[in-house]
Amino acid sequence: MALPNINPTTTKSWEQLQAHYNDVHNLHMKDLFAQDKDRASKFTINWEDFYVDFSKNRITEETLTYLLQLADEVKLKEAIESQFSGEKINQTEGRAVLHTALRAPITSEFKVNGVNVIPEVYNVKKKIEHFTNEVVNGNRKGFTGKPFTHVVNIGIGGSDLGPAMVVDSLQYYANHLTTHFVSNVDGDHVNEIIKKLDPETTLFVVVSKTFTTQETLSNANTIKEWFLKSADQAAIAKHFVAVSTNIESVKAFGIDEANVFPMWDWVGGRFSLWSAVGLTISLAIGYNNFDSLLQGANKMDEHFKNEDFKTNIPVVLALISIWYNNFFNAESEAVIPYSQYLNQFATYLQQGIMESNGKSVDRNGNAIDYQTGTLIWGEPGTNSQHAFFQLIHQGTKLIPADFIGFVKSLHGNQDHQDKLISNFLAQTEALLNGKTEAEVVAEGTAKDLTPFKVFNGNKPTNTIFVNKLTPESLGKLIAMYEHKIFVQGIIWNIFSYDQFGVELGKQLASKILNEFNGSTVNEHDSSTLNLLNYYKTSK
Ligand code: F6P
Repeated sequence: MALPNINPTTTKSWEQLQAHYNDVHNLHMKDLFAQDKDRASKFTINWEDFYVDFSKNRITEETLTYLLQLADEVKLKEAIESQFSGEKINQTEGRAVLHTALRAPITSEFKVNGVNVIPEVYNVKKKIEHFTNEVVNGNRKGFTGKPFTHVVNIGIGGSDLGPAMVVDSLQYYANHLTTHFVSNVDGDHVNEIIKKLDPETTLFVVVSKTFTTQETLSNANTIKEWFLKSADQAAIAKHFVAVSTNIESVKAFGIDEANVFPMWDWVGGRFSLWSAVGLTISLAIGYNNFDSLLQGANKMDEHFKNEDFKTNIPVVLALISIWYNNFFNAESEAVIPYSQYLNQFATYLQQGIMESNGKSVDRNGNAIDYQTGTLIWGEPGTNSQHAFFQLIHQGTKLIPADFIGFVKSLHGNQDHQDKLISNFLAQTEALLNGKTEAEVVAEGTAKDLTPFKVFNGNKPTNTIFVNKLTPESLGKLIAMYEHKIFVQGIIWNIFSYDQFGVELGKQLASKILNEFNGSTVNEHDSSTLNLLNYYKTSK
């Protein structure tokens, strides 16, 4: 069954939301809190180790009622069912979307073309577990008989961002292996990494779903050439493994078939860290921790699938985001983790959110006349407070923000933790309440400076407060955003699982590359032509 394809702007709830927006958009959240002493608890979801407070939003109970009706009108429940049951909801590529199967229990059933994929998933998990243990405990050795000390993940996009973000976020749980990630086709990237490596003790994990990606193949070839300066061809089998759906091309590259970890076309690149694409994660933090990450994600899947929409974390967050994107015309959203470990989290989310929902054609093939995918950006607090928070507090743009924090610190330095969390709470409070002119004057501010020190407040935030950063809680957090992406795609009536928008640039780059290499220069606009010739004559 195909996904429903309802233009959201034609629904009754959209019309109601528009009228409601006209009534409430000037309300100040400060007044909403004053009017309702129970507001915070009414708009909080407590689930497992997650405390999600969405009360600091420019919403009322009526707003939520209409948003929930919108979810019903676009048949969100049916769409969730279609996704989890393995229907080919990635219609433009004719594929099922089953990253949820990768983290499901062994007893579950996920069918693709009538065949349960769970046994295959668990075969690969066994292979990941065995390989990880062999490398971590030093049984698997390099070509001179030394155990591995370094792992290099060679991939880009979904074959890099997810593993890199998770390895960085969970470094507290890391073992003795040092991990590096090479992604950019910029040769300076790979050369800087190579400087840190010893060929005798480095394992290379080449990750590419398609095994056709220019960046990954170039980096893998450069590393292979460097490696072969110290080792012979037979050593490749000991030092290079691959993760791909394209076994033939992996073999052609020279990697032993026994060293290939398969994946499947029903796993999208940006949702693939749960598959063998996460091999580097498993190597860095050990298989048990990798499995806990998957189990956390599975708990969020169950919550998403079964929980009433009103108390369903990904659904509520998605609906609130639609409210700002489509009614307040907010262009972007910030994600601010109050944990240095989550330094790469926003970068990771950029691919998930923007590659999925950056679309302007609906599921009927028609051009869209409403806003879809949000711009996403962010950096950890407290650093970001000293960088771009000025604009969020006093700028002219409305930037809804997710504040993510952890109650417990990992190293247990309570003094730092209290300071961190006091900032975490203070910022959302400041964004909510602002500071009035009267308050500024009462502080003794000179009259001519007063306007500059006023904060309007009324800036929306969600607070996602998690007990502790663990592999399991990180799994839940990532899955939460994955489901938020899905819900928004359903409501916007777009296909979230293709990415044709990345193709044109790739095609033109390969044409231009040929032109650098001597073939006749084709027709270009005058700007590109001048730049191309400037490069050719100056390089
Ligand atoms: O950027 C486009 C894209 O296809 C992403 O969707 C994907 O994650 C990335 O390239 C890498 O692709 P592959 O894993 O096939 O090398």
